[in-house]
Amino acid sequence: MSQVFVSKHPLVQHKLTLLRDVQTDHRSFRELTRELCLLLMYEATHDLKLAPKQVTTPMATTTGSKAEETIGLVPILRAGLGMVEGALALLPNVQVWHLGFYRDEKSLRPVAYYNRLPDAPTVQLCLVLDPMLATGGSAVAAVDVLKKWGAPRIKYIGLIAAPEGVERLSTAHPDVPIHVATIDEKLNEIGYIVPGLGDAGDRQFGT
Ligand code: PRP
Ligand code: URA
Repeated sequence: MSQVFVSKHPLVQHKLTLLRDVQTDHRSFRELTRELCLLLMYEATHDLKLAPKQVTTPMATTTGSKAEETIGLVPILRAGLGMVEGALALLPNVQVWHLGFYRDEKSLRPVAYYNRLPDAPTVQLCLVLDPMLATGGSAVAAVDVLKKWGAPRIKYIGLIAAPEGVERLSTAHPDVPIHVATIDEKLNEIGYIVPGLGDAGDRQFGT
């Protein structure tokens, strides 16, 4: 079973509630997504590997730290796009690799439609970004692709998960920690998270 981290941070819970609200417009939805991702990213990078680094202050020279791991942000198109900016604000030296999956409406299976990963892995830690972990199909497929690529360390960062999605991702990839703002009650009969927030892509992009 993966390690599952559900944020307890009051600001995360406050912003998540605004994000869920059916009255929240597209612009505010995008801004909240950006802010939530930044906060979750802070928590999800708690074990980032550091190397010692000398620094000279106005008073003395001392040994500080520098983040050593190279990081790849892997947003799952489309909805994962809204999480990139918040992550970039916190982690300036990163690469961004896009993977495109959409859910087939009937089968709910993920359909891959975009992947421009280079032949060999170029980063040490991949952070998969997708706001919704519903059946878990898209997340499992994205991690499958990254493992085949050779990614040495992978974490999943989402906003809202269904228990079914957490179970599926952690069973398929028990080595991938899952960081989310909440685990909701259930999936409904058409694969949407309840209470959830509706369709994350549509709410971001006004479609
Ligand atoms: C949404 C969401 C996830 C997926 C989650 O994408 O952004 O990628 O559904 O569902 P799953 O856990 O059952 O796979 P969607 O297919 O709606 O595509 P979009 O982001 O392009 O709107
Ligand atoms: N994708 C979404 O955007 N919302 C859900 O509730 C489930 C999948």
